[in-house]
Amino acid sequence: MIKKTVVLGVTGGIAAYKACEIASRLVKLGIEVNVIMTKSAQEFVRPLVFQSLTNRPVATDMFKAPLSWDIEHISLAKKADLFLIAPATANIIGKIAAGIADDMLSTTVMATKAPVVIAPAMNTAMYKNKIVQKNIKDLSDLGYHFISPGEGRLACGDSGVGKLAEVDIIVDEVIDILSNYPKDYKDKKIIITAGPTREAIDPVRFISNHSSGKMGYSLAEAAAKRGADVTLISGPTYLKPPSSCKTIFVTTTEEMYKEVLNLYDESDIVIKAAAPSDYAAETISVNKIKKTQDDLSIKLKLNKDILKELGRIKNKQILVGFAAETVNELEYGKKKLKEKNLDMICINNVSKDKVGFGHDTNQITIVKESGEEKVFPLITKKELANLILDEIKDLMTES
Ligand SMILES: Cc1cc2nc3c(=O)[nH]c(=O)nc-3n(C[C@H](O)[C@H](O)[C@H](O)COP(=O)(O)O)c2cc1C
Repeated sequence: MIKKTVVLGVTGGIAAYKACEIASRLVKLGIEVNVIMTKSAQEFVRPLVFQSLTNRPVATDMFKAPLSWDIEHISLAKKADLFLIAPATANIIGKIAAGIADDMLSTTVMATKAPVVIAPAMNTAMYKNKIVQKNIKDLSDLGYHFISPGEGRLACGDSGVGKLAEVDIIVDEVIDILSNYPKDYKDKKIIITAGPTREAIDPVRFISNHSSGKMGYSLAEAAAKRGADVTLISGPTYLKPPSSCKTIFVTTTEEMYKEVLNLYDESDIVIKAAAPSDYAAETISVNKIKKTQDDLSIKLKLNKDILKELGRIKNKQILVGFAAETVNELEYGKKKLKEKNLDMICINNVSKDKVGFGHDTNQITIVKESGEEKVFPLITKKELANLILDEIKDLMTES
C-alpha cells in the first residue's frame, strides 16, 4: 500500500487509552498518524504518549504557536487520507452534527474532505439517548462512517452497548477504507470452502488436520468487500464468521460435499481453500474405544473427492483449488490442476516457516490452466486474498 496519512482525533472518554493501541497499530502498518486531542482527552492520556507512539507532534490547541507556517487545522485536514475519531464522545458527535467548530478537532473535521470514521464510546444511556442516535443517523446519512460500539461491562459499572469497538475491528475498517477496494466482483456468486473437516472414530475422538480456516475466511471477507455474493462453507474453526457473507457450517467431508454440490449450479466461482479429510473411519464406534489392547488399528475408507467431482461436472464455473504439500509442491500441484480440471491452483509448501496451516501469513505459487505461473512473496493471508482475487478476475475477463 502506498504511504497514507490518518488523522486520529481522540476525545475525552475512558476509552482514550485504547486510542494509543490504535495509533501504534496504524504506525506499524506504515501509516503516518497525526493525533489531535481535545482538552478533555488530555485529562485521560498525556499527549506525550501519542507523540512517542507516532513520532509526530500532537495537536492540542488551535491557538498555540504553529508547528509550521501552514495554518495547522487546514494543513491536517488536507493531509488526511482518512479521519478517524476514536473514541468519539457524545459531545464531539453532537458538535459535528450541529456544525460546531470551536476547538482543534471539531474545526479540522469541518475542514476535511477525507472520509470520516467515527467510533463512539460512552455509557449505554448516553448512547441510547435519542439526541445521540439522531446525530448518528444524520451524520450517517451525510456519509460519515460509524463503527458501532460493542456490548459489555462499561467502566461506569453499567452493562450494555457503548464500549468502544475492538481495536482489530477499527484498524480493519481503516485499512478497508484506505484500500478503496474496487467492486469488481459485483453480481458474482462465489462458494468458498475453508478449514478442516472432522471424521469421528468414536463419540469423543476424530481424525482431522491442522487447517485453521484463515486463508478461506480471508478470501471470503475480501470477495464480499469487492461486491461478491459469498457463501462460505466452513469446517470446524475457531474463527469468527465474517458478517459480510453467508456461512454454512459442516463437520465431515461428506457434509461439505453435499453443501458445495447443492450450490454449485448457481455459482460463478468456487474457491476450495478447505482441507477436507481424505479418509474417514469405516465404522464409527458407538461407544468410546477403551484402552484394552497394546495397539489399535482403525480401518479407513476413502472420502468423496469434492474438487474432482466439481471439475468433472464443471460447466460455466471458474474452479480454483489449493494444494498444501510438504515436498515437490510444484509437481504435485500441477498434477492436481490437470487431474481435477481446475482453472487455477494455489500451491504452498506447508512445511516452510510461516506458510500455510494456522499461520496469519502464506507464500504461494499460482499456476493457471494456461500454464502461466506466478510466485508470490510471504505476505499476510488478508493481503494474499486480494492478490488471488486479482488473478481470478483475470480469468473472468479472459473467458
Ligand atoms: C471520568 C469520565 C469519563 C467520561 N467518559 C465518557 C465517555 O466514555 N464517553 C463520553 O461521551 N463522554 C465521557 N465523559 C464526558 C466527556 O468527557 C465530556 O462530555 C466532555 O465534554 C467531552 O469533551 P470532548 O468531546 O471535547 O473530548 C466522561 C467524563 C469523565 C469525567
